[in-house]
Amino acid sequence: MFRTHNSHELNAHLAGQKVTVAGWVDRRRDHGGLIFIDVRDRSGLVQVIFNPELSADCHKLAEDLRSEFVVQVTGVISLRPEGTKNPKLATGEIEILADNLTVLNTSETPPFYINEDVDVEENLRLKYLYLNMRRPRVRDIILLRHQVMRFMRSYFDALSFVEVETPILGKSTPEGARDYLVPSRVHLGKFYALPQSPQQMKQLLMVGGIERYYQIAKCFRDEDTRADRQPEFTQLDVEMSFIDEADIISIAEEMFISLVRHLRPNKRMTIPFPRITYTEAMECYGSDKPDLRFDMRIGDVSQIVSDSEFGVFKNTIASDCKVKAIALPGCGAYSRQELAHLTELAQSYGAKGLLSLALGECASIDALTMEHVKSVAAKYLTLEQIKQIAVRTGAKPGDLIVFVADSDAVVTNSLGKLRQEMGLRLKLADPEQFAFAWVVDFPLLEWNNDFNRWQATHHPFTSPMEADIPLLDTAPSKAGSRAYDIVLNGHEVGGGSIRIHQAWLQRKIFQVMGYNDAEIDERFGHLLEAFSYGAPPHGGIAVGLDRLVMLLSDAGNIRDVIPFPKNQNAVDMLFNAPAPATAEQLRDVHIQLREE
Ligand code: AMO
Repeated sequence: MFRTHNSHELNAHLAGQKVTVAGWVDRRRDHGGLIFIDVRDRSGLVQVIFNPELSADCHKLAEDLRSEFVVQVTGVISLRPEGTKNPKLATGEIEILADNLTVLNTSETPPFYINEDVDVEENLRLKYLYLNMRRPRVRDIILLRHQVMRFMRSYFDALSFVEVETPILGKSTPEGARDYLVPSRVHLGKFYALPQSPQQMKQLLMVGGIERYYQIAKCFRDEDTRADRQPEFTQLDVEMSFIDEADIISIAEEMFISLVRHLRPNKRMTIPFPRITYTEAMECYGSDKPDLRFDMRIGDVSQIVSDSEFGVFKNTIASDCKVKAIALPGCGAYSRQELAHLTELAQSYGAKGLLSLALGECASIDALTMEHVKSVAAKYLTLEQIKQIAVRTGAKPGDLIVFVADSDAVVTNSLGKLRQEMGLRLKLADPEQFAFAWVVDFPLLEWNNDFNRWQATHHPFTSPMEADIPLLDTAPSKAGSRAYDIVLNGHEVGGGSIRIHQAWLQRKIFQVMGYNDAEIDERFGHLLEAFSYGAPPHGGIAVGLDRLVMLLSDAGNIRDVIPFPKNQNAVDMLFNAPAPATAEQLRDVHIQLREE
């Protein structure tokens, strides 16, 4: 054994005992003939002292120690003298008086400080991610990720779920992104697709009678990266038979509650998780994943301003568009420059402009007079209209009301994004709150302008509301789905649905989506056939594990919680992947690159 103890096991009770530790030199200091080093292992740090009077050889060797050298040290645990104790360190009451030192390996000077929590350029961190992992914050996230997975496994195991692995080389399953393709060597011109999720596989497990499945599954989607999106990510994937929405929602909700209580006991949650409909989420918060840590609701003021002579309002209402607004608390005294900046922000979210109306300080909205109102639109509005707008947006004296007038889609999207951004900037979100919510009653289909056809809002295996099936022929946009999403602090952390389990209905959905029968049979014949052999009613959910760990660890970016992430351009900086294939590899898979 290299060591008798891990550093976190060392404490004052062991004073006088001889121990051996092994790890990395975190830092080295020379003090009046004594050499101090902190030895770091996975569990923490311990201070070691080399005293020439105790062991001259050891002291001599320690003179050459540098950061990140790998060492094994033997010595006696000693209580630190009063005044030198370090309450910030778990082992801060003790130190090791070394009488033996073995240098197990040397190290180059690292490209960044490992023992200081300083910002390091991301690509450098990712190129040296094995050094980055030695930093306590990163190590803690990796350990948290492990605890989350372990918790999930034992939670589902206790409920008789079975973990089943599903293949990585498969056939395209549409989840709305591009597939990663793998060319086949054996079958010329044919390709496997990496799974965007194990969706069809888990449904086939239900047809196969497994009844309760879960898996910590790798998913691959060739889409642009974002702060909460990676091309390769991990899901907790779940599927059950003989259930309805309430069963899945309660099992998942209980898992989130116990997980947070277990791993983040200080976080506050509203239990049971609120449920809001998709329509309400879009109307009130301009997003299907609203951050409910703060209110700041969007108010539709179209009716209130409908008879105003103000050009922007008049033209918008005349062209059947909407005027909506939000109140920014305490921003009523914004300068011109701050207002210009807000407008730019709204424009970056697609709004043509942003109209503002500042409310001065006074006792209450009832006490408001025209003197308190500052806006280019003020003279086109009555005091009564302004008060109604304030009530509709929840504005108080001292607030700034901002309006966007445009098509419903533009207004909703731009105000939704502005709400989220300003909520964070104004620090309206309580950092200790975990605002979970279920979003339900999604429409089944949405129109895709690029392809000029209907596409599934969730995915094409989601069941329509039973009563809405006739609408598939008459008004597909009005058909509701049996899908549900779970959101946390403005992020979609999971989504699922009750599935279609009858072959005829599944075929019908594909037809509505514009596939002809030959295409349906070619792409999904296997699933339709499986459904014809007694598929049970079933449904499930998938939770974005990386996103969840990101939120549990208060990390700002999904790349910070994935042990081997790709950078913003989907490049693996450590292995330098993707990389060119050799001529022989390309020949093997029958691919010829075109000279550009
Ligand atoms: P969905 O596509 O909603 O559903 O994915 C489920 C959850 O996975 C996470 N997620 C991602 N995380 C990181 N990077 C990405 N690129 C990424 N894409 C998705 C999100 C999301 O809520 N098969 C269905 C689930 C089901 O119906 O059971 C599915 O994959 O947190």
